[in-house]
Amino acid sequence: MILQIELIIDFLISVILVQFLFQFLLTTFVPAYILSFFIINWDDRSQLLKKTYLINLTSAILSALIGNLLTFFTLGTSMILALFFSFIFSLILKTIYLKRLPLGQIRELSKLEKGKILLEINDLKVYYPLVGGLLKRQFGTVKAVDGVSLNIKTGETLGLVGESGCGKSTLAKAILGLVPIEDGEINFKEINVDKDDYSKFLRQKIQIVFQDPDASLNPRLKVVDIISEPLKNLLGITKKRELRKHVLKLLEEVSLKKEHLDRYPHEFSGGQKQRIIIARALACNPELIILDEPTSALDVSVQAQILNLLKDLQRTYGYGFLFITHNLAVVNHIADQVAVMYLGRIVELGTKKQIFANPAHPYTQALLKSRIKVDPTSKDIKFVIDGEVPSPIAPPPGCHFNPRCVSDARTKECEFDAPHQMKIEEGHYIWCVNPPKEISSNELTMIEE
Ligand SMILES: Nc1ncnc2c1ncn2[C@@H]1O[C@H](COP(=O)(O)OP(=O)(O)OP(=O)(O)O)[C@@H](O)[C@H]1O
Ligand code: SF4
Ligand SMILES: [Mg+2]
Repeated sequence: MILQIELIIDFLISVILVQFLFQFLLTTFVPAYILSFFIINWDDRSQLLKKTYLINLTSAILSALIGNLLTFFTLGTSMILALFFSFIFSLILKTIYLKRLPLGQIRELSKLEKGKILLEINDLKVYYPLVGGLLKRQFGTVKAVDGVSLNIKTGETLGLVGESGCGKSTLAKAILGLVPIEDGEINFKEINVDKDDYSKFLRQKIQIVFQDPDASLNPRLKVVDIISEPLKNLLGITKKRELRKHVLKLLEEVSLKKEHLDRYPHEFSGGQKQRIIIARALACNPELIILDEPTSALDVSVQAQILNLLKDLQRTYGYGFLFITHNLAVVNHIADQVAVMYLGRIVELGTKKQIFANPAHPYTQALLKSRIKVDPTSKDIKFVIDGEVPSPIAPPPGCHFNPRCVSDARTKECEFDAPHQMKIEEGHYIWCVNPPKEISSNELTMIEE
């Protein structure tokens, strides 16, 4: 008799357990898991999440438990509650998980708040050692960048102008962590830029567009693969379908179309190639884009298209641009701030209006006067700046510009004294030994170094 009662109890317990398991697993846990799976995977960003099954499991177990406990295991209502909680939990867990990812991994093009300091360069020095001989001894130094200080803000373009060899590209290379810094510092959003510790975040946020599109594009890769590369390497996107979808979005940003996805670089014009390079730079959702002579290989009408494209992108997304060029007309078109560089040093800094309407440094004045103007009555082109740029291996002492300076302000001291910073007006500075003649000294503010 007792044995029979025990058997009946055992049977009832197993029925309840099976019922419980059935109820828990099939009517609440499984539906909650499926719903959670769809919510976690429903948009592109799901690929950025790792171990998503853990989010699904957590969300489904919690939802099934709450659903059953609140309804005392009532079939039907427990399932509805479990689905409801699964929806809420998976959304919350996904948001928390995405928030914890490093900023740059969210790959949608984001809009930046304008006017925030992006890049700060303080007294930067970059020297190249000159080595030679059998023992590879150092016999000299090229002071390519010699004490440069600059700031770049979001939504703004800093135009960097100067003659060939004055150190513009070296400055860009230092920002990209490609050359070692001798002295001074570069900070990108308060992160110190260091060649030996150049993080993935910096590689993502600081992009460059070079002058020669042919040299920048691998001729053996299709456009889709060229633009997919940074998406794979820096953002970890692997699904082919997702890559194509995202590359297409980027191509559309630079006014290229779906039919361009599977073409090779040689099937494009120079302007289109430069658009592909810009799309590749945008792929990582950058904040600072360095443009090193991006339009000098293009004809005038295509130049204008690319400049307008860059301006539109900046207006929409708030990128900061460092625009390097020899071409003053291009600077006038695109820049907000202008820095004039001569032999490794900044000689004048100001807004575009200040530099073009009121150039105060003798070098800037000469540079602006030496612009070639189309004059049908004159057969000669007059170059106002005489002589060659001196060698950066042995720059002239005092002011580096002194052998070529024809300003009335030039004195004997220019050959010995180092130029110092003078404030012409708010935001407008020059580095010179003497104040410009046309500006009285009481209008100037000398800045102590
Ligand atoms: N790897 C290097 N080793 C030694 N000297 C170098 C090296 N790279 C550049 N230089 C020298 O550093 C100086 C600055 O070069 P940089 O390329 O920065 O000039 P730039 O202003 O960009 O010129 P351009 O307008 O012609 O592009 C030049 O005198 C150049 O010869
Ligand atoms: S410091 Fe002297 S030489 Fe140099 S730019 Fe000024 S005036 Fe000319
Ligand atoms: Mg250069």
